[in-house]
Amino acid sequence: MNKKQMKYSKNYISVIDIFCGVGGLTCGLIKSGIPVVAGYDIDASCKYAYEKNNIGAKFFHCNVKNILGSEITRQFNDAKYKVLVGCAPCQPFSKYTQGVKSPSEKWGLLYEFSRIIKETQPHIISMENVPELVRHTIFCEFMEFLQKEGYYPDTKIVYCPDYGIPQERRRLVILASKLAPITILPPTHNHKNYLTVRDVLSQTPKLCAGEKHTKDILHRCSSLSLINLTRIRHSISGGTWRDWPRELIAKCHKSNSGSTYASVYGRMQWDKPAPTITTEFFGYGNGRFGHPDQDRAISLREGAILQTFPKNYKFFPNEKELSFKKAGQMIGNAVPVKLAVIIGKTIIRHIETYKKKNGKTN
Ligand SMILES: C[S@@+](CC[C@H](N)C(=O)[O-])C[C@H]1O[C@@H](n2cnc3c(N)ncnc32)[C@H](O)[C@@H]1O
Repeated sequence: MNKKQMKYSKNYISVIDIFCGVGGLTCGLIKSGIPVVAGYDIDASCKYAYEKNNIGAKFFHCNVKNILGSEITRQFNDAKYKVLVGCAPCQPFSKYTQGVKSPSEKWGLLYEFSRIIKETQPHIISMENVPELVRHTIFCEFMEFLQKEGYYPDTKIVYCPDYGIPQERRRLVILASKLAPITILPPTHNHKNYLTVRDVLSQTPKLCAGEKHTKDILHRCSSLSLINLTRIRHSISGGTWRDWPRELIAKCHKSNSGSTYASVYGRMQWDKPAPTITTEFFGYGNGRFGHPDQDRAISLREGAILQTFPKNYKFFPNEKELSFKKAGQMIGNAVPVKLAVIIGKTIIRHIETYKKKNGKTN
């Protein structure tokens, strides 16, 4: 074992990931050099991807409401620095669901996250969510709770291209530490060198609508109806359905209320970051998810690449268990792996700085 591996052994820093999904966050933390020992999620279908791609991290299938603090403490196993991370489901705060359904049921999950913090007192916490969360009372309550528990909390709304992620996603990152004030590392990119769709997708094998690649079960794209095939042929990169001949335009878009909604049935642009990858990114009609120049929506693999998952990340053990809907949720809900790497590097730098300042040798 070399010195670096020794330094970041699970006895030194140990991470537990609540709401771990297929492991976007876990994968990035491991890549940054921090061991993740366990992930918890209510969706059993995430287990395969979580464990297959993240050696050393064990998946626990359970409802966060049933997780006992004593169980998490046992998993931390007396590590010197205990880190709890979590990315509660974003839907109750997302702009697409505002006013549509009562969020009270899902807000409960954030209270559960707080309960686990209270019961286990980790040194460092990280939470990622949609920026809309800051407008809700629960956000202020969470900040006050962290302060009361002795943490220095910090929140930033990050724009993913600033961290080398080829996607216009904005995310709220909450970091909190009991050791000292903590803040996410500064951006690594700016508008002059943002990664683009071309940088990451220009080499993926060509597909027709509805086709799948023979060697990679995830490189497959949805089929298109005849009218949508005609529509995409008339779509220009970065354009909207307004570019189509009038007979192709959907009835709802011809009406006054629908005519302003231009962000559907669009193609991505080669030389820009992609739009935010949602859980429905595989559908041409669900956003600007058309391939820049092939007449199809992007494939599941291309969505995963835009979320900065490694190109060979395995999501399903076999084709039989793969569905577009499930894959869309797994990929669209994930924390971009590269953002998780930045969070991991932030935590490492924070601990190293703390140790130096306090004259600690291990
Ligand atoms: C935003 S996703 C997390 C994504 C993950 N951190 C990643 O980077 O891939 C939220 C996850 O919370 C899980 N979830 C929802 N309700 C839950 C509950 N009551 N207990 C445990 N997990 C839950 C969902 O199954 C989903 O995987």
